[in-house]
Amino acid sequence: MFLTGGVHAEGDPAKGKRAFAQCVACHSIDEGKHRVGPSLHAIMGKPAGAAEGYDYSPAMRDSGLTWDDATMAEFLAKPRDKIAGTKMAFAGIRDDKRMADIIAYLHTLSAD
Ligand code: HEC
Repeated sequence: MFLTGGVHAEGDPAKGKRAFAQCVACHSIDEGKHRVGPSLHAIMGKPAGAAEGYDYSPAMRDSGLTWDDATMAEFLAKPRDKIAGTKMAFAGIRDDKRMADIIAYLHTLSAD
């Protein structure tokens, strides 16, 4: 029931960009620029754990996930429930609207 296909269409990327303030301490959006977390450049549609030059946890690297609206929403809602053993120390996003906005923003980070 939680956020499936419609997330992208409903989210507001401009609001998502502001909400992304809670991610920037750990994530850059510049290609190849890693902080505590990997760069989120062009993250939507990519396999999880695939950014060049970033040292992922084995849990993330071997998760077998691809980042679409549904997997991203599940991960960001409760990172450690979706990927047990992830080193992303983030409690999660509770608010559905905020989630949709952030995912809409993440879609703007790719060229496609
Ligand atoms: C406290 C630091 C921190 C915060 C805050 C944080 N992250 Fe992360 N994030 C990480 C780390 C560290 C990883 C790598 C996890 C691993 O390897 O298990 C990660 C991984 C990810 C991944 C997987 C990337 C890939 O290449 O597969 C996504 C997507 C992601 N974060 C999105 C977000 C978003 C969106 C936010 C804000 C809502 C956020 N993160 C907030 C530290 C953080």
